[in-house]
Amino acid sequence: NNKMTVICANILDFVDDPAIAGESAHRYFEKGALVIQNGKVVKLGYEQDILPSLNKSATIIRHDGKLVMPGMIDTHIHLPQTEMVGAYGEQLLSWLTEYAFPTEKKFTCEHYSKDISNRFLDELLRNGTTTALVFGTVHPQSVDAFFNESQKRNLRMIAGKVMMDRNCPDDLSDCAQTSYDQSKALIEKWHNVDRLSYAVTPRFAPTSTPEQLQKCTQLLEEYPDTYLHTHLSENKDECEWVKGLFPEAEDYLGVYEQAKMVRKRSVFAHSIHLSERELCCLGDNNAAISHCPTSNLFLGSGLLNLKRCEEHGINVGMGTDVGAGTSFSMLQTGNEAYKIQQLQGQKFSAFKGMYLATLGGARALDLEGTIGNFNVGCEADFIVMDYAATSFLKFRIGHAKTLHEQLFAMMMLGDDRCIEQTYIMGKSVYKRDAKEQFSTTH
Ligand code: GUN
Ligand code: FE
Repeated sequence: NNKMTVICANILDFVDDPAIAGESAHRYFEKGALVIQNGKVVKLGYEQDILPSLNKSATIIRHDGKLVMPGMIDTHIHLPQTEMVGAYGEQLLSWLTEYAFPTEKKFTCEHYSKDISNRFLDELLRNGTTTALVFGTVHPQSVDAFFNESQKRNLRMIAGKVMMDRNCPDDLSDCAQTSYDQSKALIEKWHNVDRLSYAVTPRFAPTSTPEQLQKCTQLLEEYPDTYLHTHLSENKDECEWVKGLFPEAEDYLGVYEQAKMVRKRSVFAHSIHLSERELCCLGDNNAAISHCPTSNLFLGSGLLNLKRCEEHGINVGMGTDVGAGTSFSMLQTGNEAYKIQQLQGQKFSAFKGMYLATLGGARALDLEGTIGNFNVGCEADFIVMDYAATSFLKFRIGHAKTLHEQLFAMMMLGDDRCIEQTYIMGKSVYKRDAKEQFSTTH
């Protein structure tokens, strides 16, 4: 069916990084129109220019006074940690053994994997997140369940089975060969099927033997358009541990570099405590960082210096890192990102936050032109945001004088309640329940 749909609203998207390109980085159409056909964007402009030129058969959907933006992109999140968000009291390494590993053991069960996958996808869509780069568990069935449920919903998702063959509980451990075999079978089954892509997913250097990292290299060479998804330089004790485990490596990133893992479509979560050499290596090789502000504060991991990332030309996206991250909301993630830059005396505009949550994420995932903005040909995954989501937000934004002030107030005060509707490939898949709208207070 090639009927046209036209979305009328205030429309915002990004064509570049506002920290580099300034005002020309964003496009804003007050009383704008977004034209969609076959699930893709065919036109973006002002309503007054677009509506008169349209065929009479086009369906017009009005979201007057609301803000339409591209769907949010979460570049680092853990499916199995959905039920343990907000686990008390530990920093990374003891948090893993106390909380993360025991929860991940439950994914031996296929029913459980399916239940959590649906809960997780519901939560992403409720928060306006339409694409995510997702850690499964060591069990291939975690990824099978996740891809199955994502496929039913026609979502663009990237995921992979965790590879982990040391320094973890026995019942969460694979070995170099089985991790290779299982990952390969999942790639053959799911990679590039509908809107799904596979990410080779060694958990992080401490939980992989050099033999297992070699197997990652082999997978990436056999399937060059798969992703590489792992953690890097999150916590100081972790960094010391890596030095001890890989004494011959130049630095933490050097471990991954030796295994030829630093390349386009490689996404390194956290990447906080990096040397000049490591930053250059990421930039020169077109690799990406997933910035995870709520997690980095929650686990007390440290403060990412975004300005240094910009100076090194590194692609940066934002990640919630649920369950070390404390919210599925990319608005709340932007809120904490702002405070992390404040603690370092640096600016972080609402434009930068919204950019990182959309086009920045698409660039980090090498998907610019497919998702992340409303360029012609992009897939029509988008959200309708409500400035009046709560009575206080409505009051506060009523006092905002500029677009930036409105967006900033939404980023500071907003969360899932601001997401009125989520569309996938031009079709509405989530609509906020009006009864729930005022049921919680901030
Ligand atoms: N490093 C290795 N595994 C994990 C994890 O599950 N969460 C976080 N935040 N960091 C990690
Ligand atoms: Fe993580």
